[in-house]
Amino acid sequence: MADLHLSLDRQAGGLARQVAGELREAVRTGRLPAGTRLPASRDLARDLAVSRGVVVEAYEQLVAEGFLESRIGAGTTVAAVTIEEPASPADASGEFGGRPTSPDLGAFPRQAWGAAYRHVLATLPHDALDYGDPGGVPELRGELAAYLRRVRAARAEPENVVVVTGVAQGLSLVVQALGPLRLATELPTSERQTPLLRRAGAELIGIPVDDEGIDVAELARSGATAVLLTPAHHYPTGVVLSPRRRAELISWAARTGATVLEDDYDAEFRFDREPVGCLQGLAPNRVVLAGSVSKALAPGLRLGWLVAPVSLAAELRKFRGEFDLGSPVLDQYTLAHFIATGAYDRHLRRMRREYRARRDALVGALAERFPEVKVCGISAGLHLFAELPPEWDARTFAAEAVAAGLAAEPVDGPAVVIGFARWPGHRLAGAVREMRSP
Ligand SMILES: Cc1ncc(COP(=O)(O)O)c(C=O)c1O
Repeated sequence: MADLHLSLDRQAGGLARQVAGELREAVRTGRLPAGTRLPASRDLARDLAVSRGVVVEAYEQLVAEGFLESRIGAGTTVAAVTIEEPASPADASGEFGGRPTSPDLGAFPRQAWGAAYRHVLATLPHDALDYGDPGGVPELRGELAAYLRRVRAARAEPENVVVVTGVAQGLSLVVQALGPLRLATELPTSERQTPLLRRAGAELIGIPVDDEGIDVAELARSGATAVLLTPAHHYPTGVVLSPRRRAELISWAARTGATVLEDDYDAEFRFDREPVGCLQGLAPNRVVLAGSVSKALAPGLRLGWLVAPVSLAAELRKFRGEFDLGSPVLDQYTLAHFIATGAYDRHLRRMRREYRARRDALVGALAERFPEVKVCGISAGLHLFAELPPEWDARTFAAEAVAAGLAAEPVDGPAVVIGFARWPGHRLAGAVREMRSP
């Protein structure tokens, strides 16, 4: 008979739950191997000085869970369960955080967001806590439409807007809703998005980007039925789609019936002038605009939007309903209130000034420490793109930047993307000075 070594805390109560917990743990860790015969409930109860009912209840619970088996005549034995260890969370930890495109999370407006959340909790009718419209609560769609008209020159009404959890989910939904697509993406592109686009069913074709943005002539030759691009600030090179290419792109889409997916991921942050209006404002029937608060506030909020032609927006809304019944409503009302009270604009104004100073500091420090490195692209966003001399190794340079504490990633070229949002200018400059020469 097994000696069970169970320890109980009599003050805590819930004795049956405690006995079951101890036994479950003993099976999980292998201390009680499969086939081990457990004491009769009466004997174990006596050993533990508990009532027999406590042990019976614990045994029954573990039989129901599959840890123990009970057969008439054979008593209670440990079942032949295969205990799987959960995958270690450390497996994935390196993949997240510290990206060159992450905003300064320390600058998240906790007070103002908290005030908006409390306002929503204090004023929202009970009924509003039910499942919301899967396309987004009307208040937020209204605020977003007005905001995007004002700031991005979008052609947006509440019925064009679909609330999503971010650009990532937005693109995934659009690709699935449009059916099998030959989807052109920029070359280079955000590698992070390619798995989700493929998983959503798109066949991807890379189209080169030069200093005017995506090569539209090449796009036209590719037979693509849709294109995904970052016209306001190409990721990663930082170029803006030129006026000529914008016109060519739209006429290609009109001619072929192709859909343009406009990833407007960091358009709020342009430091040298007003941002160019979005493509969607020029061709609202051909373009789907996708944006989120991931750069302006925090990626972890998972709040974003699509602006699509009305019929597609209706389909996306239905699709979202079938997929997962929509986004959390309290967060949506909070963002609506945050925009309506001007808190969003105030935060953006403050961060724009801050990020501009940080970018200038990083550019200055790079010029001083590595005069061979050429910073490309416009003064915008949360990252910069720097071309390295051809004989340098991008991986080594990026690793050196990461070792100095910067968020950096190598790009073929050789080139490197470096984020400047997370630190004040003097720290960025200090880190660059610390980097060894390649
Ligand atoms: C090119 C690009 N688009 C979009 C996003 C944002 O995605 P989401 O809105 O899903 O957070 C990112 C984030 O890093 C990005 O780099």
